Amino acid sequence: MESGFPSRDTYLRHFNPRGFLEKYYNFGSRHSVENQILRHLLTNLFKIFFPGGAEGDQVDIGSGPNIYQLLSVCLDFTQAHQGKSTMQELEKWLKKEPGTFDQSPMVTYVCDLEGNRVKGLGKEGKLRQVVTQVMKHDVTQSQALSGVPLSPADCLLSTLCLQAASLDLLACHAALRSLRSLLKPGGFLVLGDALKSSYNTVFEQRFSIFSLAPEAVEAATKEAGYTIEQFEVISQSYSSTTSDNEGLFSLVGQKPGRSE
Ligand SMILES: C[S@@+](CC[C@H](N)C(=O)[O-])C[C@H]1O[C@@H](n2cnc3c(N)ncnc32)[C@H](O)[C@@H]1O
Repeated sequence: MESGFPSRDTYLRHFNPRGFLEKYYNFGSRHSVENQILRHLLTNLFKIFFPGGAEGDQVDIGSGPNIYQLLSVCLDFTQAHQGKSTMQELEKWLKKEPGTFDQSPMVTYVCDLEGNRVKGLGKEGKLRQVVTQVMKHDVTQSQALSGVPLSPADCLLSTLCLQAASLDLLACHAALRSLRSLLKPGGFLVLGDALKSSYNTVFEQRFSIFSLAPEAVEAATKEAGYTIEQFEVISQSYSSTTSDNEGLFSLVGQKPGRSE
């Protein structure tokens, strides 16, 4: 059922972290669209961060209950943050609580990409050590982490969040500007999201979303004060029951200035 543009509360109310992991991140049927996209995301983050990518403190924006986006950076980075509704699922994984969703197939995939320099359980252990904080945030606010004392980060990472969080292009611009204030001069912004979707399905509920064209992503990033270091588009799309996107993009931007 089409529900128009959702408010953030509506979106989060429908967002079931466990169901989300099971649908998109189970690495089950080898040829599913979800697996192809997941493999692309993991490989792309590996190429961006490994080896010798950006170093220092990382803030992961809109993590959801996931850890996959931190796997290639977890040797160097220290922080992850996300919205409250899904924090519990991630915290369960971090604390190794019984019944936690099994993220090990993604861990193994990334370890293989890295030549098994560190193996599965070792990588999971390291990631559990370096995720130092899980906190609430809202990219629609000018102070996305308002009230949280946090030093500017060396790298901000955000996958599949910007479009979910923004009602329109203006909101997307504002979110990018808000994120910029969390970065050190010289720090990197790493983004990935779907392109040109008009709807998204969150657990049986279909929501309208604003369509993000590649040119608009680049223009919004530059307008928000970043230089664009890398911008790639692939044609892979989700199944039509999930979204009508036309491909996905990944972007590496940089906040001008020198890092201390
Ligand atoms: C589709 S999930 C993506 C999760 C994960 N980053 C990934 O790559 O699978 C969208 C995420 O955006 C987050 N989100 C939605 N609105 C937000 C907002 N205003 N500020 C920050 N995060 C938001 C949700 O909590 C959810 O975790």
